Amino acid sequence: MTFDLTTLPPSDRYKLLASLVTPRPIAWVTTVGSEGVVNAAPFSFFNVFGSNPPIVTFAPGNKDKHTPKDTARNIRETGEFVIHLIGEDLAQAMVNTSATLPHGESELAGLNLTTAPSKKISVPRIIEAPVALECTQHTTLEIGSNRLIIGVVHLIHAKDGLINEDLQLDPSLYHPIGRMASPDRYCRSSDQFEISSLD
Ligand SMILES: Cc1cc2nc3c(=O)[nH]c(=O)nc-3n(C[C@H](O)[C@H](O)[C@H](O)COP(=O)(O)O)c2cc1C
Repeated sequence: MTFDLTTLPPSDRYKLLASLVTPRPIAWVTTVGSEGVVNAAPFSFFNVFGSNPPIVTFAPGNKDKHTPKDTARNIRETGEFVIHLIGEDLAQAMVNTSATLPHGESELAGLNLTTAPSKKISVPRIIEAPVALECTQHTTLEIGSNRLIIGVVHLIHAKDGLINEDLQLDPSLYHPIGRMASPDRYCRSSDQFEISSLD
């Protein structure tokens, strides 16, 4: 089968690409709006793109044609955000924060999660998450109706024991989930294998 994306409507292009380009890591992002409310939402159009400087990119779309999602709006106002990486234990809470709420209402309310101040930015982090990246906005690119937020990572929080003194991750303790076919499918990363490289 072939699919010519120039003739397909954007919703069908999304269905195909979001189902095929998988598994995708999930950025669970906190931001703060001008009212001081902590906003949380997941984004799977997300990855790390370099270490010098250390950059990450994710892509929050619009609520409707003219209104950016709250995450994008808050980052435009403050330039700061925290990206959390999570395992299956927080998957339901993460999905619950994808609800569309009026601007200024926190998705974290009633979720039994705890926030704590970050060290380098004013946006708080969710302490239950095994990893949190304190970020500032570098650039936001608007390409058609896509919005790519490029962030610089300033500080990494990792749960005690996850990473040793040689900066090696303990793979038995870190099992982030991935996003599979949209809208509802996810995968576990607990079944891993090794392949040695030739050099
Ligand atoms: C696992 C998952 C991944 C998502 N990835 C994206 C994404 O990459 N881009 C996007 O615009 N929305 C994505 N969404 C939907 C947003 O999380 C949702 O629109 C949310 O309400 C945005 O919240 P906000 O308005 O507080 O920013 C995703 C939802 C889930 C459950």
